[in-house]
Amino acid sequence: MTVVESRLTATERSFHVEAYEKIEYTLDYVDGVFDPANPQLADAFSAWGRCLAVVDRNVLAMRGEELRAYFEHHGIDLRVQEVRIAEVHKSLRTVEQLVDAFADFGLIRKEPVLVVGGGLTTDVAGFACAAYKRSTDYVRIPTTLIGLIDASVSIKVGANHGHLKNRLGAYHASKQVLLDFSFLGTLPTDQLRNGIAEIIKIATVGDADLFGRLEKYAEELLEHSFGFGPEGGHVREAGGAITYDAIKRMLELEVPNLHELDLDRVIAFGHTWSPTLELAPERPLFHGHAIAVDMAYSATLAARCGYITEADRDRVHSLFTRLGLSVDSPYLTPELIEQATASILQTRDGRLRAALPRPIGTCHFDSDLHVSDLVDALADHRALCSGLERGGVGLDAFTPAEVEAPVQRTS
Ligand SMILES: NC(=O)c1ccc[n+]([C@@H]2O[C@H](COP(=O)([O-])OP(=O)(O)OC[C@H]3O[C@@H](n4cnc5c(N)ncnc54)[C@H](O)[C@@H]3O)[C@@H](O)[C@H]2O)c1
Ligand SMILES: [Zn+2]
Repeated sequence: MTVVESRLTATERSFHVEAYEKIEYTLDYVDGVFDPANPQLADAFSAWGRCLAVVDRNVLAMRGEELRAYFEHHGIDLRVQEVRIAEVHKSLRTVEQLVDAFADFGLIRKEPVLVVGGGLTTDVAGFACAAYKRSTDYVRIPTTLIGLIDASVSIKVGANHGHLKNRLGAYHASKQVLLDFSFLGTLPTDQLRNGIAEIIKIATVGDADLFGRLEKYAEELLEHSFGFGPEGGHVREAGGAITYDAIKRMLELEVPNLHELDLDRVIAFGHTWSPTLELAPERPLFHGHAIAVDMAYSATLAARCGYITEADRDRVHSLFTRLGLSVDSPYLTPELIEQATASILQTRDGRLRAALPRPIGTCHFDSDLHVSDLVDALADHRALCSGLERGGVGLDAFTPAEVEAPVQRTS
């Protein structure tokens, strides 16, 4: 960010400052980001002759050799800081460990850090970059579906604090995001499923046509990794158009409000009660499942309010269920609804602003719902879910128990 306009007014008894800063960043598609023939990644580091890369452990195991060969080919020294950041390690302590790694590398002011991994890696390392020397540049290579279509599209970075999701954080855009969807070829099914939940979010409240295409292709996209699995060629075009449209719609909605000055945010659909729900179990729910439960419950609410038909409510529930995403959770109790509502009211300036479809593809912000309405709706929701496959419970919904240190070897 550079200051592009500023004004100082000085009077005898006061100084008043007004300054506007430009935010500028680019998301570039690159097919084969570690292919030596593609210069985009090298271009970001060649001026420095070296690169500190924070890389997710699983990605490093699969793509580390390619990454090292790429930098060697371009004559850039590479140091890799391996990380494996689980939701329970999305903490200030992990941020501090990354800051230690930056200091140990002797990061020079304005020298960018490379961050390669899913939403957890980019959120936490991005926050370390926001804090280090008050602002350090970084380049992101998202490697999960959540990262590619959401976390690395946003300029928000952060960490949890205790059981409070993303309670610490910053708005800190990475100068560049390199989008290489071939990473989806190795992403496990449970992680693809999580990512689709964020696409369903944007479709349900922002793009009815996208919602229709998800209904058409959902299972195939999951089964064939959006066309990057071994036999997935036939869905690559549809998958590519779906992810492109999801990113574009998110940017259209978010770019006028990058610092969230307007708290009525369409893409907060599914993120009203889920922040509390996600961290409620000892092993947190995967982000995608937590928001899916919130969205499904929101669809039940929207139908009760007459914003969508019962048939459209059932379409939303069915889409999640077909994919194995959760629409209900034993952790979603009246007590949790009450606690989560109190928590989100603090974040949203005292008003609920629950994003609800009205109808599918458009969004309405509701602040008139009281806890008693919400608890009544929960009873309805539970009854509806009991008639669905698996009683509404999702597949592989919980994050694994992690015992490893989040910041690991340097090499
Ligand atoms: N900043 C934002 O605006 C924003 C938006 C959405 C989500 N988020 C955050 O993102 C986090 C979830 O991110 P996530 O779902 O990407 O989780 P993650 O970063 O933990 O990645 C999920 C798993 O996939 C593995 N992995 C990553 N890339 C892989 C690949 N190409 N092949 C095989 N395995 C791979 C990782 O090692 C990990 O085990 C949550 O904390 C959520 O709050 C942030
Ligand atoms: Zn989210």
